[in-house]
Amino acid sequence: MCGIIGIISKQPISSMVLEALKLLEYRGYDSAGIATLVDGDIERRRAEGKLVNLEKRVNAEPLSGTIGIGHTRWATHGAPTERNAHPHATEQVAIVHNGIIENFAELRAELEAEGIKFQSDTDTETVAQLVSRNIRTGDAPIEAVRKVFDRLRGAFALAFLFKGEDDLLIAARRGSPLAIGYGEGEMFLGSDAIALAPFTDKITYLEDGDWAVLTRDSVTFYDENNAQVSRIVQQSAGAAYVVNKGNYKHFMEKEIYEQPEVISRTLAHYLDFASSSVREDVTNIDWSQINRLAISACGTAYYAATIGKYWLERYARLPVEIDIASEFRYREMPLSKDTLALFVSQSGETADTLASLRYCRAQGLPIAAVVNVRESTIAREADIVLPTLAGPEIGVASTKAFTCQLSVLAALALSAAKAKGTITPQKEQQLVQELASLSGYINQALKLAPKVEAICRDLVNVKHALYLGRGTSFPLAMEGALKLKEISYIHAEGYAAGELKHGPIALIDETMPVIVIAPYDRLYEKTVSNMQEVAARGGRIILITDAEGAKHANVHAVATLTMPEVPEFISPLVYALPIQMLAYYTAVFMGTDIDQPRNLAKSVTVE
Ligand code: G6P
Repeated sequence: MCGIIGIISKQPISSMVLEALKLLEYRGYDSAGIATLVDGDIERRRAEGKLVNLEKRVNAEPLSGTIGIGHTRWATHGAPTERNAHPHATEQVAIVHNGIIENFAELRAELEAEGIKFQSDTDTETVAQLVSRNIRTGDAPIEAVRKVFDRLRGAFALAFLFKGEDDLLIAARRGSPLAIGYGEGEMFLGSDAIALAPFTDKITYLEDGDWAVLTRDSVTFYDENNAQVSRIVQQSAGAAYVVNKGNYKHFMEKEIYEQPEVISRTLAHYLDFASSSVREDVTNIDWSQINRLAISACGTAYYAATIGKYWLERYARLPVEIDIASEFRYREMPLSKDTLALFVSQSGETADTLASLRYCRAQGLPIAAVVNVRESTIAREADIVLPTLAGPEIGVASTKAFTCQLSVLAALALSAAKAKGTITPQKEQQLVQELASLSGYINQALKLAPKVEAICRDLVNVKHALYLGRGTSFPLAMEGALKLKEISYIHAEGYAAGELKHGPIALIDETMPVIVIAPYDRLYEKTVSNMQEVAARGGRIILITDAEGAKHANVHAVATLTMPEVPEFISPLVYALPIQMLAYYTAVFMGTDIDQPRNLAKSVTVE
């Protein structure tokens, strides 16, 4: 989602801004722009589409200037055109924005009534026009901006650049993340530590409601009440996040292949493989006080959490409520104090997940978060952080973050089960050993890539696909459908196999591929019955199972992917691999933009 950068330096900054924007590309965007001060006046270059278009524009008409702001825009209000690209500017001020100004329509009407002409369809331009009006009526820039905060509803990270002010940038945060970076005679602001990584490793995260005044040599912080405050400077791990594709064609492919390693690393944080036991101190949750969980998450994280629900209920006997975060925050669920509120998020910035966390905070619940980005807002606001050690995930379609989330949730279920006495020490040992064997199984699953590729050649021509599964394979079916939709743009649905006959069976004909996830476990026979219902109607079955499952299938499948035989507990972690590869290779054949699929954002910082 929108990415922001701001730089005050002694050297020309346009190439630095472009470098930072490249690092923000992973968030997802559909236009980009940059503004600098040239002889005291605001100059802009903006372009629709990918950054190369902006680069071409800047190369054709270079931008000098030692102070400036830049932006990658993920359209919310107004089409992704050059006219709507940020920075938005008047003669007096240029701004970049991440978030949504919810009351922009009334603000715009007020300004238009005064005769102000808008140049774009965005909510953002209202902020530029409001600040500009204050400056025209005599306010100094800082005062002009400060007065505007009270007028804005919604979520934002904002950066301001002013005509004639060669040593001043203002940054503000309400809801959307923003960090300040410190250089030698240079200052920076950016949406995340990754954007600032080429320039500095010393950063300060703005707290919610903060705003900051930057010069080349200083930064002054103010809180939401406009009181001057101090904020800690921290060492950023941002540099570690600047990664490249290595020998892989796409980040998604690289991230798929990283899974054996990152899953092991994540599990080792929670489990002691030497003694085959759960580490007792690592989650810091007082399970004696917890009788149920309420989990919220979005997208892939929601599907990981849904699999976690099966484990927490089965092994720890803890009832789990699970919601999509955008629903949870408004559904006014009764919550008792013995509920652990758990949030799952790769980025740790997803607006709805964060809002749900704050809702639970207000209800006085203990709060735990499974997050990948340690410096994120969700990680900072949770009582207990349960890290996934997936490393930076750049591909918009989540892969390794998903399996690392599963790893943490599996360990969490065992930790709760152990504390609650719902599993015996022998069972704990067995389940930990099963998790310890994961990387071997996953490596075996990765070897199926050529077979998966062959299946995908046919999938390229389909318009729709259905994924079926039971038990933990059901959320995996939904995740598989999501993956396919996200990067190949083929419409897909994930269904509980048993629910097939309550609707989706009407869709089955010889053109409909049905991907059945069916390890040979206690639910296998039931799934086979559903498969037979598909076969009887001519559906094209792609069966993902193991050797025993293949032997007992008794239906005609157009393709069978024979997986290693894995214990039921860990099967979703292993079966995630062919699911991811199916989406990946289909998209490769279709030639889509795999790492940055259209319309999608990696970090969804608006509701
Ligand atoms: C976006 C991403 C998904 C992700 C979801 C939740 O939709 O494209 O890959 O699963 O947000 O993000 P989070 O960072 O909270 O896990």
